[in-house]
Amino acid sequence: LKKVKKQKVLLMGKSGSGKSSMRSIIFSNYLARDTRRLGATIDIDLSHVKFLGNLTLNLWDCGGQEAFMENYLSQQRAHVFSNVGVLIYVFDIESRDVDRDLATYVNIISALVQYSREAKVFVLIHKMDLIQPMTREDVFDRRVALVRRKTAEAVAIVRKQKPEVSGVGGGLPGPGGGGGAMMAGSLPSPELSTPIPDLEVEMQLFATSIWDQSLYKAWASIIHDLVPNLSVIETQLASLGVAIDADEILLFERTSFLVVSKWTSPEGESNPYGDRFERMSNILKAWKHTCSKYTGTPRNAEQFSDFEYKMGANFSMFVTKFTTNTYILVCMPPGEARFNSAKL
Ligand code: GTP
Ligand code: MG
Repeated sequence: LKKVKKQKVLLMGKSGSGKSSMRSIIFSNYLARDTRRLGATIDIDLSHVKFLGNLTLNLWDCGGQEAFMENYLSQQRAHVFSNVGVLIYVFDIESRDVDRDLATYVNIISALVQYSREAKVFVLIHKMDLIQPMTREDVFDRRVALVRRKTAEAVAIVRKQKPEVSGVGGGLPGPGGGGGAMMAGSLPSPELSTPIPDLEVEMQLFATSIWDQSLYKAWASIIHDLVPNLSVIETQLASLGVAIDADEILLFERTSFLVVSKWTSPEGESNPYGDRFERMSNILKAWKHTCSKYTGTPRNAEQFSDFEYKMGANFSMFVTKFTTNTYILVCMPPGEARFNSAKL
């Protein structure tokens, strides 16, 4: 039985942090440089992305200007934060006002866990290209520690929330007592005034930039968590891999070229390039873009059906259309006969 699963995905973070940029690159085939022309998002930009036939992402790209953020936290609180499957929160690593960014983040997390306690959180520390390569890891680690601490704070507030705290015009106390303005007018619904002692937030953090493949790594993880029945697909991919004697198989979603599933043979595991999956997404996306430039087809049209690469005595690979919504990449050990029969 094919059941269509809808997932509400919130994309949040302060204005200019790069939310619409990443959405346009992943789902609308923009090049990184095209994003310089994007204007600030007004209120919420809703889009529906069909994924692998039975998954629809309802992507809420929430404009990050302060007035909008306040509105999400107050008037639109229940509307925005109910039934959320995933929150993707984007931090601009170059932002000058880190304390303020974190205060807003705490308010958003509190609202999220109140209304969608099962939601998963992905935090993207974005624009890492602006940080000197030498210090990137360090900067990222420090920010991760800070965000984790703030998340725990937000969760602790909700855990301990008592009926009297959620009185008229109250909402949650802002961090350091300074977040009051953000919460003004928020009226938590009655069932939220009871403490939730066992509340936990599942979160993952990524360092990202639109200028390299790191964006694909983060978004592939997000998607990986959302696709239903992925374990079935994974088992079948493994059977296929063994049957055709492959080193590795990657399954890409057709429009985004995100890796939704993969299988690697024991020999393939010795590949030292740990970032090869997101690199392939990036390369194939660029290839698709180049094809469209020379054939004059629209951005999202199908551009190629086949791609082969043979590296003499080392390996060979092909990429081809697989199902309506996927492309498959198969990496083979050397050998013409094996390659041809695998393709067949
Ligand atoms: P609002 O819609 O106002 O909430 O902003 P937003 O988060 O959607 O920001 P947007 O995507 O419009 O990006 C703002 C600017 O940041 C654009 O000029 C992008 O080109 C730039 N930008 C986005 N991602 C990156 C990145 O990874 N690195 C650098 N250097 N610039 C980026
Ligand atoms: Mg935007």
